[in-house]
Amino acid sequence: MGVRETTIRTMSLADIETVVEIDRLSFSLPWSERVYRLELTENPAAHLYVAVKKKYTDENILGYIGFWYIVDETHISTLAVHPSERRTGIGEGLLIYAMEEAESLGAEVVTLEVRGSNQPAIMLYQKFGFEVVGRRPRYYKDNGEDAILMTLKDLPGWGQTRRKKINISYG
Ligand SMILES: CC(C)(COP(=O)(O)OP(=O)(O)OC[C@H]1O[C@@H](n2cnc3c(N)ncnc32)[C@H](O)[C@@H]1OP(=O)(O)O)[C@@H](O)C(=O)NCCC(=O)NCCS
Repeated sequence: MGVRETTIRTMSLADIETVVEIDRLSFSLPWSERVYRLELTENPAAHLYVAVKKKYTDENILGYIGFWYIVDETHISTLAVHPSERRTGIGEGLLIYAMEEAESLGAEVVTLEVRGSNQPAIMLYQKFGFEVVGRRPRYYKDNGEDAILMTLKDLPGWGQTRRKKINISYG
């Protein structure tokens, strides 16, 4: 199941139940249903998207991404792919889609935090040009792990180049 059979669209309230299930499988400090609901209904800076596999009228959520857009800066707030769907290009498809959306809003810089032990995510971000710019000691409350701060400095034109390079098409 590759990204070519996947559609990416805006997350809706009806998606929250499945998104929260994937969140629990993906993070030791998952977001609750309430947090997703608030993000979708109360936070004007929040932008959330889901990757779905479609079969007739049924949709199966495979993963999701979120970012906050404030002035000309974007912060990636969440990104996860269901464990059984990983390593098939969905994570990078979501990242490229979200960054193109952020660029269209006017974003120039993208920031994020990632656990220092999270090699899959760090490799993903580095593959797409994010650089390590700092570290927040003991940032994660469950195990006191440091957060690695990563930045993509020059967003304009980024998505178009990346999409061309890996030849992604969306649903
Ligand atoms: C990080 C995550 C979203 C990646 O999603 P994915 O769909 O498996 O990633 P993709 O298949 O698109 O992989 C894209 C690139 O990411 C990197 N990558 C992904 N998984 C990797 C792994 N297990 N080991 C090393 N590199 C990995 C590679 O650079 C890969 O490119 P390649 O295939 O050319 O080697 C997924 O592992 C996940 O949901 N993890 C749990 C939640 C999480 O940590 N989110 C990030 C929070 S900051």
